[in-house]
Amino acid sequence: MINPVLESGEAGAPAGPGQALALAAGRRLALVVTGGVAAYKAAELARLLTRAGALVRTVLTKNAARFITPLTFEALTGQPAYLSQWTRRGLEIEHVALADWAEAAVAAPATANFLAKMAHGLADDLASTFILTASGRPVLAAPAMNSRMLAAPATKANLETLAGRGVEIISPASGPLACGETGPGRLADPEIIALSAIRALTPKDFLGRRLAVTAGSTWESWDELRYLTNRSSGLMGRELALAAWLRGGQVTLVGGPAALRPPELPGLASLTAESTRDLLSALETLAYDVLIMAAAPADFRPAAPIAGKIKKERGPTEMPLALNPDILKSLPRRPGGLRVGFAAEDRDILERAQKKLAKKDLDLVAANEAGGPENAFAAAESRVRLIFRDGRIMDLGRRPKFAAAWAILDAVAALRAA
Ligand code: CTP
Repeated sequence: MINPVLESGEAGAPAGPGQALALAAGRRLALVVTGGVAAYKAAELARLLTRAGALVRTVLTKNAARFITPLTFEALTGQPAYLSQWTRRGLEIEHVALADWAEAAVAAPATANFLAKMAHGLADDLASTFILTASGRPVLAAPAMNSRMLAAPATKANLETLAGRGVEIISPASGPLACGETGPGRLADPEIIALSAIRALTPKDFLGRRLAVTAGSTWESWDELRYLTNRSSGLMGRELALAAWLRGGQVTLVGGPAALRPPELPGLASLTAESTRDLLSALETLAYDVLIMAAAPADFRPAAPIAGKIKKERGPTEMPLALNPDILKSLPRRPGGLRVGFAAEDRDILERAQKKLAKKDLDLVAANEAGGPENAFAAAESRVRLIFRDGRIMDLGRRPKFAAAWAILDAVAALRAA
């Protein structure tokens, strides 16, 4: 699935979800803001999506405009923001024109009252009329309200009705609420809402597939405070997990203790494995169809870890090492499953990667340079070369890791189809 936005490359783009957000470029989104304190966070969402290149048009309810103004959204997005169907700018019928224009609609924050209107098909203002008209498109709702209102049987029933009709409910977070209480009801993080909207617009070629993606370095204890590790940041694994999630996969990311993480997303589980042996045990019990080993597990561990803290007066001058298990070699191939490995090499990259493919029984190896001028470790970009079982080699060129992850998944999807 060639993606023109990613293919164009955005060298220098911020690492992480910033690169994933670039998928919003050129997409047309309608943001419906309803009347809760969290309305101010909708401005952050509009800004995030606009900076990613999306076109965002906003509809505010009368009560939302008590908290924030249409002008805020017009200034942030450079697109019209609407308050009422009775102040028409032209001859178009706004709710219909907007529903024709928008590729998806996002209600954020969605109050209990607005969710009730959505669930029952009420259409007594521009926001509710628009959302009813837009019902053939992906519609997302991010509730925000007091915990007791959220737990009320009426709200729960409305949320169930909406979910049953295909509206994506973005679960509210837990924490301190504007009313002074603490509990569930906070508007989900704008980044989570933005990624969910992008996912709603992304073709789901990994739907129903379970992917295990490993990321980052493992830690091998020497004493209780010190450990042996390597420079892997976990960015490539994080981007692979995020890209697979956007494409509909059911993803488990297993990362080292310091590995970069995506935000908390439904359907993207995030586990931590401290040592290489912990990573192996985690994978042994995990259910998956596709294994992508982007982690850089430590190959060695201190042979005899020491309890407490080693004092410098004791001055150990040597650290005897033991060899860790090779995770890929230790994990048997699962029936119908795919195994993708990485190869981090400082020279003879293709030749060594080909050997790893055979030795570790892989379907695909993503080879990149460790150290040297094209070092991929802890870098935002990487030059990945894909090596297939049938001997094919594909040079992806140097690109941001999210774009590299996307292309690796294209290759995995093609293998699966073959
Ligand atoms: N890998 C693994 N178990 C290890 C070390 C690495 O399964 N103990 C996986 C990595 O996640 C990667 C692949 O094997 O997908 C190749 O990793 P790499 O570090 O390039 O190779 P090693 O097998 O560790 O060999 P060497 O370090 O000697 O090149």
